[in-house]
Order: sequence, then C-alpha cells, then structure tokens
Amino acid sequence: MAESMKGLHRTHRCAELSAANVGETVTIMGWVQKNRNKGGLVFVDVRDRSGIIQVVFEEGKSEASLIEKAAKLRAEYVVAVVGKVERRSGAVNDNLATGEIEIIPQQLRVLSESETPPFPIEENSKTKEEVRLKYRYLDLRRPDLQRNLMMRSKVATLTRQFLAEEGFLEIETPILIGSTPEGARDYLVPSRIHQGHFYALPQSPQLFKQLLMCSGYDRYFQIAKCFRDEDLRADRQPEFTQIDMELSFVDVDDVIDVNERLLAKIFKEVLGIEVSLPIPRMTWQEAMDRYGSDKPDTRFGMELNNVTEVVKDCEFVVFKNAIENGGTVRGINAKGQGEMPRKKIDKLVSFAKDYGAKGLAYIAIQGDGTVKSSFSKFMTEDEMKALIEAMGGGNGDLLLFAADKNKVVWDVLGALRLELARQMDLLDKSEYKFLWITEFPLLEWSEEQNRFTAMHHPFTMPMEEDLQYIDSDPGRVRAKAYDITLNGNEIGGGSVRIFNPEIQSKMFEVLGFTPEQAQEQFGFLLTAFKYGVPPHAGLAYGLDRLVMLMAKQDSIRDVIAFPKVKDASDLMTEAPTRVDQKQLDELGLSVVTDEE
Ligand code: AMO
Ligand code: AMP
Repeated sequence: MAESMKGLHRTHRCAELSAANVGETVTIMGWVQKNRNKGGLVFVDVRDRSGIIQVVFEEGKSEASLIEKAAKLRAEYVVAVVGKVERRSGAVNDNLATGEIEIIPQQLRVLSESETPPFPIEENSKTKEEVRLKYRYLDLRRPDLQRNLMMRSKVATLTRQFLAEEGFLEIETPILIGSTPEGARDYLVPSRIHQGHFYALPQSPQLFKQLLMCSGYDRYFQIAKCFRDEDLRADRQPEFTQIDMELSFVDVDDVIDVNERLLAKIFKEVLGIEVSLPIPRMTWQEAMDRYGSDKPDTRFGMELNNVTEVVKDCEFVVFKNAIENGGTVRGINAKGQGEMPRKKIDKLVSFAKDYGAKGLAYIAIQGDGTVKSSFSKFMTEDEMKALIEAMGGGNGDLLLFAADKNKVVWDVLGALRLELARQMDLLDKSEYKFLWITEFPLLEWSEEQNRFTAMHHPFTMPMEEDLQYIDSDPGRVRAKAYDITLNGNEIGGGSVRIFNPEIQSKMFEVLGFTPEQAQEQFGFLLTAFKYGVPPHAGLAYGLDRLVMLMAKQDSIRDVIAFPKVKDASDLMTEAPTRVDQKQLDELGLSVVTDEE
C-alpha cells in the first residue's frame, strides 16, 4: 500500500551523505536497489540519481514493526527513510561513495510499490538494447545512463554560460519551416490550412541564423533540435541536437578562437582535462593524403603512403591499370602484424572490398625477414625492395596496398587503418585528440545526380584565391569551411558564409539551380542580402556526438534520453504510428502505400 510523504522533506540525495554527516538525522527518498534479510537484520540499499546508500534495520536499534516492513520491500519500490547517519558497524565498502556510513532508520514509508522490472536496474546492463529501449524509463534509472545525461546537462549549461559571457544571444528559430535541401532528406509536416502544402522540419537553423546576422544580432547561439531523414548509424539519429552559433564581422580564425576556448572550458570543467590550445589544424587535402579521411583519428599513426611513383613502372597490372586510369597506389604499414595468419588477412581483404576496393594487395614480412606477398610474382626483386623501403617496412610488418581512384583508395585505407587500430587495441577512450580540418573542397561531384553538390552547404564562401576557377574548374575551388574533429569523429562543422549576392547567385548556378529555382527556394535570403548584410561565419556541434565521446560511449543513443532505433522508430511509444482517417481527411491526405 502506497503511503504519503506528508510531513517529510528530503534533506539529501543518497550519495550526498558522507562521514561528515555522522550523527545527523536525515531524510532520503529513492528506489530500493536490493534488500538482504539476515533474520532480524535487514540491509536495504536505496538509490537515487546521486548513487546508493545502505539503510540498516537492526533489532534493538529500530522498532520490530519497521524491520518487518523493511523485510517486505522489493526491488524498485519507492521509499522514504528518516534516520540517523552512523559509521558502518560492518566492513567499509570501497565500491560505494557512501561506503563508510549507513543510516539507522526511525521511519520507513513505502511511497510506491513496483512490479518486478523486466530487467535489473544495474550498471553495464547485459539486457538487449531493444528491451531496454522499450522500457526506456527503467533503463534511464541505470547509473551509467544517469551519469551520461547529467554530463550532457552540464555541457549544455556550461555552453550557455560561456557563450553568454562572450556576448552571444540565445535566440530560437522556427521548427516548422519551408523545405530547403541541405544534404539530407527533409521530414515533412502536412498543412491542414493549406492542403497539399508542407512544412519541413529544420535540418539545422542555417538560413535563420544567417538572417539574424542580417538583422544585426551579431552573435547568436542556440541549442537546437535538428531533423534529418537519413540512414541511422551509431553516430546518427533522425533528430539530434546542435550547439549552433553564428557570428558577424569575423573570419575563420575568430570562429576557431572562440570555439577552442569553449571546448577547453567544457573539457576542463566536466572531465578535468586540459585541452592544449591552439588545437592543431590540417587542410582537407593533407588529412586525406595522410589518413584517407576528413576526420582522422590522430591517436595513432599508421599513416597512408603514396607509392604511385615507386610502382609506376612495374608489371603488376592491378597497380598499372589503376595508375593509367588516373588513380594512385597507396599503402599502410601495420607495424608488427607481419605474421598475421592468412585467414585474418583474407578478412581484411573482404573488409576492404566492403569499402569499395577491388582487392587489397599485401606484403607480409615475417619476423625472420622472409616475405609473403599476394603480388611479388609480378614484381622484380628490386621493385619489391624499393616498395618495402618506401613503406618503411621492417621485419614483422604487414604492408597493405590499395590501387584505384583516389576516393576509393582513401576510403578503403582510411577505414582499414581504423579497423587495424581496433584489432591492435590502439584506441584509448581516455585520450582526446582534437583536430581542425580546414580548406575543404567547395564542391563534390555527385555521380548519382551527375552534377556538383555543395560539400558543406550552398552558403559557404569559396576561398578568395580560388574564385577564379569557379567556372573553369569548379572541383578545384576550396572553401572557407572547417570541421572540428575528435578522435576520428566529426563533432562540429561550419564555414564563413557568402554575403555577396553575386557570389551567392554564382554558387547556385554552379550547383545547377536556375535563377528561378534559386529565387523560389532561397528568395528571402537573396533579397535580405540586398539590404546590408555583415560578413558572417558560424559553426554547429553535434552535441550528442560531443557528449558521447566525453562519456566514452560507442553510440549517441547512450547520451540521448529517448533515442530511436535503426529503422527510425521509437520502441517505447511505437512512433511512427498510423493515424485516423479523420486526421488524414482534415489534411487532405490519402495513404497510397502502407507497410504490410
Ligand atoms: P553539419 O551538417 O556539418 O552543419 O552539422 C553539424 C554537426 O551536427 C552533427 N550531426 C549529427 N549528429 C547526430 N545525428 C545526425 N544525423 C547528425 N547530422 C549532423 C555533426 C555535425 O558536425 N548548419 C551547418 C553548420 C554551420 O555551417 O554553421 C550544419 O548543420 O556532429
Ligand atoms: P589478382 O591477380 O586479381 O589475384 O590480384 C592480385 C592481388 O592484388 C590480390 O591480393 C588482390 O586482392 C589484389 N588486388 C586486386 N585489385 C586490387 C586493387 N584495386 N588494389 C589493391 N590490390 C588489389
């Protein structure tokens, strides 16, 4: 039977108590983690978001009726306990923050009972994620998730504090907006009043924050919900949160400066880690050449080596053809992996194929210096020697090569490098390596659409010195765009914006918009730019990704209170759901195809 908490006031959270409180009478409230009944002696662990405290019901110290009541408590009952804090009579528990003390109760109230939960509420749960997500409200009671969400809250609070101190204004932008392409697919919301018309949910506040700069707010930020209908992965959710900002009268270095100080503050205050400033910067080109990735994990080396020049005259057709077709041959040296069993090497080959490789050539140098290779029969001894030397190969090393168009070679070796690092246990989650990637290409050729698309977004400013190529060789133009990466993750990205209407129109033209299409989709922005627009630039972090790395988690699901699963559904609410015919009628919609 549930009792009321009338007359009681919680004085402390469970784990806020320590030896300093010995002798005090306190009131705690929380969930029963477990109780152990040793016949007349009942130990009850009470848990709240701060942690656990032990309450001891003992003959002679507590009334018999109280002990009887305690013996009947079950896991997840909600209780209030009034009692005196004492030093533990038994052994100190070093695993608990409150391990030196216990509460000797004078009152026990059962505020709410609980059925047996579908899984135990405990740290590092072994329960399948689908089950946990179905009962997310229980899952969220687990200490690890509670720590993650508390950390997330702290990051958000510090961000607000810091940016406010730096003169940023927190301004909200609308969630129901017009559809504009920004890379991913939009989520659409049908309009009842304007049947056949749709709002889109924002993929980011991009256009609105630029307009706020036009309006003179000069420094804006928002912790903004964003929506993108794209395939989900461990670091991608259909709705996610950005720390979004925009600044007027600035260039690349100003944005980088304020953000480095923001990151340093967050890491210092949340994790006690000093981020040494300035954070290193690397151009996109260098990142691709050295790591095969625009978000390189620099916690370890194993860099890519371009050996095209070394092998260009050899007879191995795989290398020859790739080079003749305008590609390159590059390799990585997995130090100390030369004796990797053939089966495991074959697995690496099929891993490479998953990333688009036609194959993966290797040289496995044994401990004694003998060489096993998938292509030595096509090479002269001198050519092999030169290649091994170019790769810095020594006894016991495994050299892996991909030959193809640059993009494929980078993708394959970039991914392989990470896979090997995982296998070789080179990734330490408590090491944090930040890196800015700068000078991204402005445009990216899309085979699918047979046209250039914006690598960041259509409002990104080309580098002045490359503007001359915008008509003749658009692929060569670099952008004033930058990403902030951490341990191989893109945690944020931004750019200096175009604020000149001619360059903006040119950009739309290069992207294949007719002037009419540009006007239709972005007319308000182009018009706004006619009325005095300050130079401006900005950046947005994926808050979920940042907190995921800070909390040493593998998925952003672990730092989001109510995440969605791979097929973008919510296992708890079962969204998305069908709706009534009446609702569809009001919206003027009819469903043409339905699942099942
Ligand atoms: P961008 O598209 O690079 O830039 O997004 C910024 C950051 O948001 C995070 N992110 C995501 N996180 C979780 N799930 C997703 N589906 C997802 N998509 C992106 C990433 C990314 O770095 N308006 C621009 C910013 C600007 O130019 O100022 C923008 O949205 O960490
Ligand atoms: P093959 O003669 O096709 O058996 O190829 C010889 C070796 O080259 C095998 O180890 C293949 O995996 C490898 N290989 C094939 N295509 C490529 C490629 N594009 N890049 C690197 N290695 C390749």
